[in-house]
Amino acid sequence: MNIHQLDINHLKSLETPFYHYDMELLANTLDAAKKAADKRGFHLHYALKANFNDRILELIQSKGYGADCVSGNEVQKSIDMGFPASQITFAGVGKSDKEIILALEQQIFAFNVESIQELLIIDELAGKLGVKANISLRINPNVDAHTHHYITTGLDENKFGVPNSELEKAASVLRSCEHVNLLGLHFHVGSQITDMNVFKSLCVKVNEWKNWFEERGTTIKVLNVGGGLGVDYQQPDENPMPDFEAYFDVFDKFLERNPNQEVHFELGRALVAQSGTLVSQVLYTKSGIKKNFLILDAGMTELMRPALYQAYHKIEKLGSSNQEELLNYDVVGPICESSDCFGKEVTLPISERGDLIAIRTAGAYGEVMASRYNLRDEIRYVYG
Ligand code: LLP
Repeated sequence: MNIHQLDINHLKSLETPFYHYDMELLANTLDAAKKAADKRGFHLHYALKANFNDRILELIQSKGYGADCVSGNEVQKSIDMGFPASQITFAGVGKSDKEIILALEQQIFAFNVESIQELLIIDELAGKLGVKANISLRINPNVDAHTHHYITTGLDENKFGVPNSELEKAASVLRSCEHVNLLGLHFHVGSQITDMNVFKSLCVKVNEWKNWFEERGTTIKVLNVGGGLGVDYQQPDENPMPDFEAYFDVFDKFLERNPNQEVHFELGRALVAQSGTLVSQVLYTKSGIKKNFLILDAGMTELMRPALYQAYHKIEKLGSSNQEELLNYDVVGPICESSDCFGKEVTLPISERGDLIAIRTAGAYGEVMASRYNLRDEIRYVYG
């Protein structure tokens, strides 16, 4: 249920701060994305890094999604949660030998390989285990995602993927790797992308590189175009889910694919962000010389995005009527850091100790990025 539909007295009886997950919205979002993808024959992998809460993974797995992982632990978690190994991919620029061995033993669908050196190591370890590793080569396409620079990944200056200048060499190394089987190509240009033109530019690059490999006699079975679809942080209730039809349409229209070529996606944020809300209590109010502060019992330890990326999250007072008098507050947490601030000059109904504050659109990169800094409590959850 939407956080505003829950009984305020019930919410006030719960220990704060906690994450509330709207499981109904999550299910609807998962269904909408899956339906739009299925219609076009696209394959969907959920990027675990956005949220690996058990209840959320259970639901995503039950809807038939694959898993996109970036650590050995995420690979193991996906397997434990019932994702079939044949639908698990493993990306990341720094896979350790131990992680590679785990993924080889589990016979996952594919490694998304990010450098020539990594390719050679996977070949060597697969040889030692007497298995063949399926891989997709991650290409850095040099496409600007026009998003926050911390979450842009597809530019020449970023550490991700094999740069264009190395592809000739990568292709020849691949031919010499006996224990590696090239399934396809992998791309991911960034996160929180709301301009569909970015994905159109990505398609152009994917087509170019696919042709480049095919001209050299290499069969490309899988085109993995990554994730990155953004959500509406400003208006979570008006836009509770992204326009999946419009998103997949771009790839349907602009990606050139042969009938036997598969298109894979790795969505994280778009699937889970809107279903999560961080609920916190006002501990204190304070009027400084220039500012009014609302001091919450949640901080950057529960939701780091505002402190790390200056990210906007809508802040609301729960259980308030439209008639209340408004005031501008800097909404801050209890952590001993000046960056521990959820929003500056936020207009809210006048609030007092004990009031509940909702920080919306916190289902992606929220609890997974939480820390115990200041020896904070473990995260609490409420589902419903
Ligand atoms: N595939 C790869 C290779 C990725 O690196 C990512 C995200 C995804 C898929 C999923 O992207 P999504 O669909 O969620 O945009 N902590 C940041 C976001 C970091 C994204 C890292 N990579 C934030 O809070 O905005």
